[in-house]
Amino acid sequence: MNYQTDFIFHYLRPLFFSCDAELSHERMLSWVEIVSKFPGVIPFLRWKFQEESQELRTNLFGKIINNPVGLAAGFDKDGRIYPSLFALGFGFIEIGTVTPLPQSGNPKPRIFRLTKDKALVNRLGFNSQGIKEMVEKIDYNTKINYLKKTKKFNYSLEKHKNVSFGMLGINIGKNKDTPLEKSWKDYVSALNDLYPFADYFTINISSPNTDGLQKLQGGQMLYELLESVCLIREKLEQKNNHKTPLLLKISPDLDDNQLQNFTSVIKGFPIEGLIATNTTLDRQNLKSGEKIEQGGLSGKPLLDNSTEVVKFLFQELGNKVTIIGTGGVFSGADAYKKIRAGATAVQIYTALIYEGPGLVRRIKKELTELLRRDGITCVKDVVGIDS
Ligand SMILES: Cc1cc2nc3c(=O)[nH]c(=O)nc-3n(C[C@H](O)[C@H](O)[C@H](O)COP(=O)(O)O)c2cc1C
Repeated sequence: MNYQTDFIFHYLRPLFFSCDAELSHERMLSWVEIVSKFPGVIPFLRWKFQEESQELRTNLFGKIINNPVGLAAGFDKDGRIYPSLFALGFGFIEIGTVTPLPQSGNPKPRIFRLTKDKALVNRLGFNSQGIKEMVEKIDYNTKINYLKKTKKFNYSLEKHKNVSFGMLGINIGKNKDTPLEKSWKDYVSALNDLYPFADYFTINISSPNTDGLQKLQGGQMLYELLESVCLIREKLEQKNNHKTPLLLKISPDLDDNQLQNFTSVIKGFPIEGLIATNTTLDRQNLKSGEKIEQGGLSGKPLLDNSTEVVKFLFQELGNKVTIIGTGGVFSGADAYKKIRAGATAVQIYTALIYEGPGLVRRIKKELTELLRRDGITCVKDVVGIDS
């Protein structure tokens, strides 16, 4: 059945790839947004794509998830289609990057396919509909889900936010016009406004497409940012009666000294997780002409470099923080490498563009086979065994 989906996607791909990458993505989002309103569509997707195995059930930030394969930030920036994406079988989904105020991002075109390399370059620059719009989207999706599950109409977002689809992370960023020294204000305001709706927050300080953002990854700036976000989280924890994990997403372009500096700062703060990595500025060993485009590179060429960062972080921090491995995962073997290097879970983005929606199920199947081959009964048991 899955092969059928892969087969169809294989023949449709030239059609998707015949127009601008961002336009194609936007059309897909609008189409899924409309189609998913029809009753039966999400159950159909679940029937078609969801298949779980006992070996992949794992614990992420204290919650049990069906599998460690997640969707990376940037695919559903405004939280428009995440209920349908959960139906593809992801164990968790990260929406965003959302900025406090709406902003349009960089001039188009700003996403490029490097087909020969199975990669993308993007310089979107945090195009976002803003927090207010995201809250409305989450409210709408939660309401529909609540009605479906309970058939009751007395819904309120505050009360029923727990009627969720699965683990939902929200990735937050700063507005372009906010000066770098005041960035902490944007992260604090995002945490304030979104706190009840996320299972975890990712603080994005590694996008290469927002001027100066990556400077937040080290030294005094990182220290000040962490002080502000940890303080507001403490207050929000008391107010809401639950602690939502904070993660930092880092770049694959930090050298060993910078990584060392980064880990030594975060050791002093109650940060629960790290996402390694965002896109890279590196352009080595690429075949496609589009490699000259400015922006962050994602996909297959990023695999080894981002896995090395996972390894470094695991060696430095061990089980003190949970690592999510992101970058170039196209197969169960790629996911297995990242998990053995120290990732508790992985995320994918670019591979989904090249391989289509059947990929999630394929990665899970291949990962399960690898675990069975090695006589492992639970994916958690192999986290970090190669580091
Ligand atoms: C078009 C595009 C947009 C992205 N937007 C974001 C974003 O808004 N926030 C973020 O943290 N990462 C963003 N990313 C980075 C991905 O989340 C991920 O870290 C990176 O692409 C590496 O994973 P991959 O090789 O599986 O794509 C984006 C990536 C792509 C390709």
